[in-house]
Amino acid sequence: MPKFSEDFKNSLRERIDIVDFIGDYVELKRSGRTYKGRCPFHNDDTPSFTVYPDNGSFFCFGCHKGGDIINFTEEIEHLDYAEAVQFLADRAGVPMPEDNFDDTLSKKRQRMRRMNADAARFFYQYMMSSEGNAGLRYWTEKRQLSMKIIRRFGLGYAPDDWHGLKNHMNRLGYSDQELLEAGLVRKSEKNGRSNYYDNFRNRVMVPIINVRGNIIGFGGRVMDDTKPKYVNTSDTLLYHKTDEVFALNFAKDSGKDELILCEGYMDVIALHAAGFQNAVAGLGTALTDQQARLLSRYCNTIYLSYDSDSAGRAATDRALDIFQKTGLDVKVLSYSGGKDPDEIIQTYGSSRFQAILDNAENATAYRLKQRKNRYDMDTIEGKHHYLQDSMPILEKQDDTGRELYIARLSQETGVSEDAIKSQLKNYLSKKQYRESRRLKSEGSNFRSLLDKTSGGRGRAVKTREERAEELILSALMTNHDYLERVDRSLDPEDFTPGFHRKLYEELRRRIQEGSSTELIQFSEMFTPEEMAQISRPRMDGALANYSMREVEDCIAVLKKRRHR
Ligand code: UTP
Ligand code: MN
Repeated sequence: MPKFSEDFKNSLRERIDIVDFIGDYVELKRSGRTYKGRCPFHNDDTPSFTVYPDNGSFFCFGCHKGGDIINFTEEIEHLDYAEAVQFLADRAGVPMPEDNFDDTLSKKRQRMRRMNADAARFFYQYMMSSEGNAGLRYWTEKRQLSMKIIRRFGLGYAPDDWHGLKNHMNRLGYSDQELLEAGLVRKSEKNGRSNYYDNFRNRVMVPIINVRGNIIGFGGRVMDDTKPKYVNTSDTLLYHKTDEVFALNFAKDSGKDELILCEGYMDVIALHAAGFQNAVAGLGTALTDQQARLLSRYCNTIYLSYDSDSAGRAATDRALDIFQKTGLDVKVLSYSGGKDPDEIIQTYGSSRFQAILDNAENATAYRLKQRKNRYDMDTIEGKHHYLQDSMPILEKQDDTGRELYIARLSQETGVSEDAIKSQLKNYLSKKQYRESRRLKSEGSNFRSLLDKTSGGRGRAVKTREERAEELILSALMTNHDYLERVDRSLDPEDFTPGFHRKLYEELRRRIQEGSSTELIQFSEMFTPEEMAQISRPRMDGALANYSMREVEDCIAVLKKRRHR
């Protein structure tokens, strides 16, 4: 049974303009009756993402995600269905119907958020008690943090006890199983008995807060040099470390158009304490595409602040590549006199960090410098190699960029600008030749692949019958009058079992009841993958306006299959 009524969904559809709504996340350009932009769900350099205001759907021709506005919200905000509906209702000012939310997953996540908040409160209170004084002293003395910043980040301390948190949480009514699912306790099996014990013990605690301000996990640091330095929540229903960015909840409100991306929790906390409230960090993993896209929603420029060691340089290279795809402007900070922002600020104060920010290099200057450092620039070979390595970097520049960097390279190497220009020209034409050879050979591979699959055996190519089913379904979505004719000739069993049959049955029921077949009525019962399929065939129908003749042809195709 659907939980949300037809009227309720229709009011969402009426109150929220899908182009405005998606336009907050994706830069959209009008193109006829549709809008196009770069897909927020994969790294898209051609605009493959399409919004169809006519029926309230979206579809990406690159990654094949699609559906209605609820599906979009689920995907982009990492929410489940009921949460996405809530999110949209809040946005549209439509009151939620009373008796929903018996959705178990959404309830579970809601409870897990409360559980994390209760655990954070416990860690804070323990730190403030006399037994927890070691933790408080770590933050205030060793890390020089004020109470104000400790409270802002909700820092705390986990007791040196196997069951401190567990006992407290059990008293609040959380079961061991729930605590386990939230990553707050661990489980061991002994003689067939389960033993639950605290995951975080004798560690100072940093809550991980998502953009919407919910605590979704924790990082716990030792107070000495024991290993491992940090214990972190592993992935749970709420927390996917590759999708999240630490302190973005604060940084997004810093009023700045730039974000400083650091390596660790402590860098971020030290920077915020020093007045740089636009600092954020990944969570101990290499930067991911998802994180880059999340960041790109809150800033135009990223200052990369990775450590100045070789691991930090590798991380910087990777991040530059990833951010290039999101179209963000990237600058690279370079440190001397300390390895990270935390050390710089502790040693020299915040003005030194500001100077480092002011001296940030753009991505091209940074890349060129990295190449240069590889070679001995006092030798002829060194200069020669440096110039060769610079070509792929110059290639990516526009004309003025090339001009400017060629002037700089000429100064650095003593080679004339003209000579560098002609080397670049040479490089580009060789590359173009290789590229066209590659395309030619790929083209022929692609053709032979098509030849093999066009017999109808291949998965990618749809059969005649599949296309007939799709056309009938699309036509019915927009033209309810066709149902009588279709229903007279075909049974639900004439449709391929699974998705198509389910969609036909649902459409038939709705049309016979006189209910709405707006796309938004379907996302509650179909999976996001199915919704993506609906939004594609549906769109064809909405634009093509299939005639009764075409529908009849398709009916004939399906009837013929039946008699075979
Ligand atoms: P760092 O070692 O630079 O930690 O690791 P830090 O945050 O600067 O801490 P301090 O200044 O030494 O106290 C950077 C990030 O890598 C992850 C954490 O997210 C950390 O903030 N990390 C590091 C772990 O998850 N586990 C570890 O054992 C170490
Ligand atoms: Mn550090």
